[in-house]
Amino acid sequence: MLPFHRPDVGDEEIDEVLNVLRSGWLTTGPKAREFETEFAAMAGAKHAVAVNSCTAALHLALEAAGLREGDEVLVPTMTFAATAEVVTYFKARPVLIDCVPDTLNLDAHRIEQAITSKTKAIIPVHFAGHPCEMDHILSIAHDHGLRVIEDAAHALPARYKGKMVGSIAESTCFSFYATKNITTGEGGMVTTDNEDHAARVRMMSLHGLSRDAWNRYAAEGSWYYEILSPGFKYNLTDIAAALGLAQLKKCDRFWKARERYAALYHEGFRDVPEILCPQSAPHVQHAWHLYVIQLELDRLRISRNEFITRLQQAGVGCSVHFIPLHLHPYYRDMLGYRPTDLPVSSMVFQRVLSLPLYSKMTEADVHRVIEVVRTLVKENRR
Ligand SMILES: Cc1ncc(COP(=O)(O)O)c(C=O)c1O
Repeated sequence: MLPFHRPDVGDEEIDEVLNVLRSGWLTTGPKAREFETEFAAMAGAKHAVAVNSCTAALHLALEAAGLREGDEVLVPTMTFAATAEVVTYFKARPVLIDCVPDTLNLDAHRIEQAITSKTKAIIPVHFAGHPCEMDHILSIAHDHGLRVIEDAAHALPARYKGKMVGSIAESTCFSFYATKNITTGEGGMVTTDNEDHAARVRMMSLHGLSRDAWNRYAAEGSWYYEILSPGFKYNLTDIAAALGLAQLKKCDRFWKARERYAALYHEGFRDVPEILCPQSAPHVQHAWHLYVIQLELDRLRISRNEFITRLQQAGVGCSVHFIPLHLHPYYRDMLGYRPTDLPVSSMVFQRVLSLPLYSKMTEADVHRVIEVVRTLVKENRR
């Protein structure tokens, strides 16, 4: 069985983590600071604040942007639970936006019609690692006074018109979850050029305290702290940060492997009209977090679900990204969305399927997946 994902963790990560365990300092401290510095340099941002998930990063970025009860935030429906759920933490309302059928990113042309007097922010998600049309999004945001918080859970290392994702909008949130492009097991990061924003995120990530543990317990620290605001417990441990530092050094190598495998898939399905491959626009660097194909269902005798079952029976792990938010019970029942409200995502959901794409795979694995998919298509052509 080829699993859908396996993290690429080597001796370097193990050594870094062991060093932290031996150091006696386990929670947020020097390694977390070092990870933030290295990450900010890579992302081209002035500040980076490490937290324990991308969900926490999104929550804190919205908090720093001053989101309030009753506000509305524009969120793509083609995303994971976290992107919209954080909006509800404020008793604010996520307003779902349909996707474009090629990149599956949010349709920037649908943003303006969704804006009301209550709209405060927009959270573009760089689906599968393909950057959204940021020029368009930033220009609309500017015209309507909206804050832009990027969900870059998939987008490391990605570029838009030469700029690193992480250096474009006011703040950008990354994920180091176990399946992401680099991992700390669980972890996340907020990048920003706004010093006040960074300071607020940092403070609120640790109970709203005026000093973190490193400032209080280190030799030169002071025991005194003040609670400046009721915050959260979202800090990243030094154990996780050590893992992240070792992973960050390999980020480019991991990306090159995924990019090569994506090109192999592309080549392998070139003459298969039943399969639509993901494209990369010329003005972006695609992070290739996911390889999401779309099945041309009217050319096939089986559904996407059957296709997945057969792939799994043939030993190929796969997944679906995503079940659009508006099709989930909460959004359907509590916010009243119907499938026809977001027709492109509702349609695309029937066709999408994510193939394995990670640096731990070998070229032989990729060729095997291609063969299995081609055979399945051949056996099930209309
Ligand atoms: C698009 C997107 N946003 C946010 C998240 C949440 O990331 P985390 O698990 O680090 O909180 C994920 C995780 O899968 C994701 O895919």
